[in-house]
Amino acid sequence: MVKVLNSSQELIQVRNGEQKAIGFVPTMGNLHAGHISLLEEALKHNDVVYFSIFVNPKQFGPNEDFNKYPRTLQVDINLIEQCLNSYTNKKVIIFAPIDAKEIFPTNTNQLVSVAGLSTMLEGALRPGHFDGVATVVLRLFELVRPQTAYFGLKDYQQFLVIQQMVVDLKLPIKIIGMPIIRESNGLALSSRNQYLSAEEREVSLILSRTLSKIGQIIDHKKSNVEKAQSEITHVLKDSRWNYLEIRDAGTLSSDLTHSTKITLLAVFQLGTTRLLDNMQLEIQ
Ligand code: PAF
Repeated sequence: MVKVLNSSQELIQVRNGEQKAIGFVPTMGNLHAGHISLLEEALKHNDVVYFSIFVNPKQFGPNEDFNKYPRTLQVDINLIEQCLNSYTNKKVIIFAPIDAKEIFPTNTNQLVSVAGLSTMLEGALRPGHFDGVATVVLRLFELVRPQTAYFGLKDYQQFLVIQQMVVDLKLPIKIIGMPIIRESNGLALSSRNQYLSAEEREVSLILSRTLSKIGQIIDHKKSNVEKAQSEITHVLKDSRWNYLEIRDAGTLSSDLTHSTKITLLAVFQLGTTRLLDNMQLEIQ
């Protein structure tokens, strides 16, 4: 059964009557197979899944794509219903607030900020972005009170920010990161891929291919990181890269002295569309 709620009052009421294990999938809608993989994982492990669809104004900068971000609520609801058909005795509650006041009732500038992690890399290029993300996710956590919440690892830095927020605030919520879902050519699925022209889609493959190449150069050996860094210096001569970095997978520090797991994080920009991708590697 799928139920759609538009107000936080309704959500609180429905949630108060719920005794069962609750999984939560927060999204901004315009669902693709990546979001559906989160829903499927949540349905496998919980009796009830709360699924939010809300384009959060607080995480967009003044010149970003908040107004043009694709809003496809009815199609999203149909996709969720289709997915739920394969799961008997499970329930999905879709929370799709029609007004931002449902989430931020007083419209103050009160923000949650996860120090350190929020201001590097993506946070340095999009000041305030992760404060907007952490703030909305905390509000949604307060409303839904899930035991488990599911996030895609395509936004790897976002995943770490949320994980850190949960630790810092001692929230009783388990955070699960789900693998990136890719097109067969390697392009990581994203709602923003639809901004790309056919020609840009071809060019965009540079992103996943470069990450694979750097991963192959490292080949799980710390001693190869220097060689990978020289390749990166060469790659970054192309100004379409916003960044391409090798960082510790837990702290995002560039000091890898004690790292056993690293992440390659990159943004490649085509026109005004910024494409994010990443890859995690164990190293010795
Ligand atoms: O990853 C997203 O879609 C958003 O950043 C999130 C976590 C739903 C918060 O608005």
